[in-house]
Formats: sequence, structure tokens, C-alpha cells
Amino acid sequence: MKIFRVYLILLLTIIFSISGCTKEKETTLQAVEEPVWIIGMSQCNLGEPWRVQMNLDIKTEAEKHPGIKMVFKDAQNDSLKQRSQIEEYISAEVDLIIVSPKEAAPLTPPIAAAYDKGIPVIVLDRRVLGDKYTCFIGANNKIIGKAAGEWIVNRLNGKGKIVELKGLMTSTPGQDRHSGFREGIQGSNLEIIFEADMKWLEPSARKEMESALARFDKIDLVYAHNDPGAHGAYLAAKASDREEDIIFVGIDALIHEGQIYVKQGILSASFEYPTGGREAIEMALDILNIKEVPKEFTLPSRVFTKNNIDQGGEWLEKKKE
Ligand code: FRU
Repeated sequence: MKIFRVYLILLLTIIFSISGCTKEKETTLQAVEEPVWIIGMSQCNLGEPWRVQMNLDIKTEAEKHPGIKMVFKDAQNDSLKQRSQIEEYISAEVDLIIVSPKEAAPLTPPIAAAYDKGIPVIVLDRRVLGDKYTCFIGANNKIIGKAAGEWIVNRLNGKGKIVELKGLMTSTPGQDRHSGFREGIQGSNLEIIFEADMKWLEPSARKEMESALARFDKIDLVYAHNDPGAHGAYLAAKASDREEDIIFVGIDALIHEGQIYVKQGILSASFEYPTGGREAIEMALDILNIKEVPKEFTLPSRVFTKNNIDQGGEWLEKKKE
């Protein structure tokens, strides 16, 4: 459904009459038509800096295009709430939906319903099941997990005791960061002594790490599936005076979060997980302008360490220009 915004521009023409020194005013009304597309965005939660950044990236890019009107909804980490948000967007007949789903299974049916009704859907960051969506945008979490595993093997010379703090395992990044990591450490003598699902949340990572610290006198490294998780683990270790003995590795590398932790020496490495907000709007415009788009758009990732952070990190794979 395309709506037309009509601007009535008042053109004021002042006609000077030189001879008689009189001023005459003439007004004309001119119609300027500009298409407006309504894009509904459903964000699974706004409790973490990474998601706030994603919305900001979307908003910043969308504001460059007067033909787009964004509507944002926050599902507050509740899959049922997120399902109804997508249903609301379907009833409202928005022109396109962008969704960053909390979990794959519960969000698959409403996204498929929108797609079947002819509303294009861009799925951002976390995947759904099947292929009833228009385009998926995100970095490759398997590659990131594997790169983290290889980096850790190298850092520990192939041997050590590891705590793995996993992201929500009903979401695809958690699953892929886990399986990629296990692949990356295969053949080494690294031992996973403790693993727990901290659901992407710093407070639960801190709690899980307290249990790990209570159970194990020696922990060499914590691999957390995101930077809030790694930071929560660091805080737990610091509270028991053990942070100096442990290496912390996380994922996200936000400029104002993970990259700062790396600069401060809290994290030894953080792997970038770009939000894809800007790319989602670019893709949305292509879809709305009936251009062909890929089913899958993979974002590149970098690793940041103390040694490379001032040079802008190091790409995991050669960046596609
Ligand atoms: C934020 C977040 C990020 C993580 C992403 C994975 O909710 O946990 O920290 O990289 O989601 O989907």
C-alpha cells in the first residue's frame, strides 16, 4: 500500500512594479507528491546496548530517506509479545517489516504469515526456521565462534581450563557461537570445565560465573557469547579477587562497550557482531523499489585485541568492498 504525502507549497511571488512603485502579491499552490512507506520494526528487547545501537543505526539511516516512516516496537524479551507485534503490523498493512527475533521457533509462524500475505520481511541478526521471509541480514556466527575458538587455542598454547557462558540456546546466534567454537578448539587440549546458558544477560552471566568460581580453583579463560556476558563474568571474578588470573573473551565489540573493555584490558579479545541496521534500511529500499535482493546478506566481522585496536581491529575474512 503506497500512501502519497502531499505537500502544499506556498509559492509567494512578489511582483514589483517598477514604474508605479507599487507591490503586488500573487500566491500559487503547487502539489509535490512523495511516496511514504511505513516500515514496522520489531526489536526483541532494548535492555542491551547492542540492541539500542541497532535501533539507532536503523533510525539514522531511515532519516536520510524522507520516503520512509519508521515505527518501532520493543518486545521486552518476550517471544509472545513479539508474535503479537508482528500480527499488529500485518493488520496495519505496513509496507515492510524488519524483525530481530528473540527465538527462532515461536517467531517463525507470524513472520511466515506476513510473508504469505505479501508483506516483505527482513530478518535481522537471529534467524527463524524455514525460508518464509524476504531476506536475512547478519554476520556468520559459526565463523565468529570458530575464530574465537582458534584465537583461544593460540592464546593458551593449546591447553587450559575454560568456562563457556552461552547465549540463549533457543536463539540461533547462541547455537552457532557454541558449535563454531567447539569446531575451533577441536584437536586441542582445552578442557571445558563449566558451561551455562546466561541468556545473553550480564546479571545471569555474573551469577553463573560465581558458581564456576566456587567450584573451580583454576579457570584460565572465560569464553562468553557476548560482551555483556564476558563483563558479568569479569565482575564476578573481580569480586573474589581472581580477575587477574583469568582471560576474558567476548563477542559484539560495540565501539562504546566491548572495544572500551578491550582498551581497558578487561577483555583480551572481542569479536565484532555488526548490528546490520544500516544495511536493513538499504535492503528495505531495494525491496520497496522492486529491485531484486539476495535471500541472505552476510555482514563481515573483526577481532579486536589490545594489539590491533588502534589500527581498527583485524578482519576475520577479507572484507568484501
Ligand atoms: C543482544 C545480543 C547481543 C548478541 C546478539 C545475538 O540482545 O545478546 O549481545 O550479539 O543479541 O543475537
